[in-house]
Amino acid sequence: MLYIGVDLGTSAVKLLLMDGEGKILNIVSKEYPLYFPNPGWSEQKPEDWYTQVMAGIKELVKDADKSQVAGISFGGQMHGLVILDENDEVIRPAILWNDGRTTEECDYLNNVIGKEKLSEYTANISFTGFTAPKILWVKNKEPENFARIKKIMLPKDYIAYKLSGVHCTDVSDASGMLIFDVKNRCWSKEMCEICGITEDQLAKVYESYEAVGTLLPAVASELGIPESCKVVAGAGDNAAAAVGTGTVGDGNCNISLGTSGTIFISSEKFGVDKFNALHAFAHADGHYHLMGCMLSAASCNKWWMDEIIGTKDYGAEQKAIEKLGENHVYFLPYLMGERSPINDPLARGTFIGLTMDSTRADMTQAVLEGVAFALRDSFEVAKALGINIERTKICGGGAKSPLWKKMIANILNVKVDVIESEEGPALGGAMLAAVACGEFASVEDAAAKIVKIVDTVEPEADLVAKYEARYQQFKEIYPACKELFRKIQ
Ligand code: XUL
Repeated sequence: MLYIGVDLGTSAVKLLLMDGEGKILNIVSKEYPLYFPNPGWSEQKPEDWYTQVMAGIKELVKDADKSQVAGISFGGQMHGLVILDENDEVIRPAILWNDGRTTEECDYLNNVIGKEKLSEYTANISFTGFTAPKILWVKNKEPENFARIKKIMLPKDYIAYKLSGVHCTDVSDASGMLIFDVKNRCWSKEMCEICGITEDQLAKVYESYEAVGTLLPAVASELGIPESCKVVAGAGDNAAAAVGTGTVGDGNCNISLGTSGTIFISSEKFGVDKFNALHAFAHADGHYHLMGCMLSAASCNKWWMDEIIGTKDYGAEQKAIEKLGENHVYFLPYLMGERSPINDPLARGTFIGLTMDSTRADMTQAVLEGVAFALRDSFEVAKALGINIERTKICGGGAKSPLWKKMIANILNVKVDVIESEEGPALGGAMLAAVACGEFASVEDAAAKIVKIVDTVEPEADLVAKYEARYQQFKEIYPACKELFRKIQ
């Protein structure tokens, strides 16, 4: 049988076709626009996602035996607020995970309701990108839209709804809404009350590897795929990426270098850190995970290459970097503010340490290093919790760079296991579909059979020492700039 994984990302949707043995048969990518209607705001049109998913599936299965497609599932950008009216029409553009407009609502949730209560109800505190503060924002700023809300959905769940007609979500993605009781894997009545919504405005919650239904007849005939094809709940993109890199079970780590940057630690038991600096979410394998999320990771490099230097040849720019661990230029990667662990929507990107002899290569190097240093900030929180991470997998667009992988291995002092396919969320989505269709006994079983390590980047003692000294300096830059970021808004 054949399985489709849909990775509904921020810049594009990536679709992957996999056979029952985990072999990737085809990959297709389709872009859609991203809107920044005000500084710090970030929106997309759910209708654009659906149009491109349908076009992408058609292209993906063009040369395949369509009658064999048995399941479709998802990894989706998390936290985005999609609101539907009584006719299931989209009320306003989706407010995305990297949108920073909800500072007032976050202050209300964290300081008036209080972090302790939020953590008791949901295992997490409020960050501007999370869904609950966005619901409050619509309630406060767009009351006419708020009054029309019949269903509140997450990005990939809107696609699952369009394909199957079922209002559904999964435990991993629901975890990022701040309305979900992560420990007990159900909606929190207290949070519904705080947000002024009722539980029937939320979708039905499934485990990530459960089928929610099958393709609607009209969709099936448009795609040429059987109506019996299962639509499977899927996961938030980070949990799906973890499945796709085999980061399941207890104590395994995955780093994702996409538009966002995450460090994801799988865990068999539920756990929360005392200051909620890391997100405590349900995992797609039926267990739990901790996660640190940076809002701009590979997107910093993309910005630097595409917008500032004006090149598409990222490899050539990286070739000019020769002196690892010896750069005097530093870069703070906070181009969209920052989430983990500093939780500061007003933080900004910064180059510091430039001199007359600084080169373009030094600045490119600083961008790549700055992202790795900021990832280390979340890694340090995990270490402080007693979590011992010796090795990690890696995926996302940034993982294609051997140089960036080497920086990460040495800045975090971990072994970086390179896997055969770094497709992350799209592969994880296809694997979840295969599990739901009975191809594998469990998510762990699918990961054990499909994911293969092909190389390991080892940290090197002299580089680790050089980078340790530089990280200690990097750590001082944000606290020194913090107040200034407020003044220059
Ligand atoms: C995770 C997060 C991002 C998005 C990116 O909490 O906000 O990783 O899921 O798509």
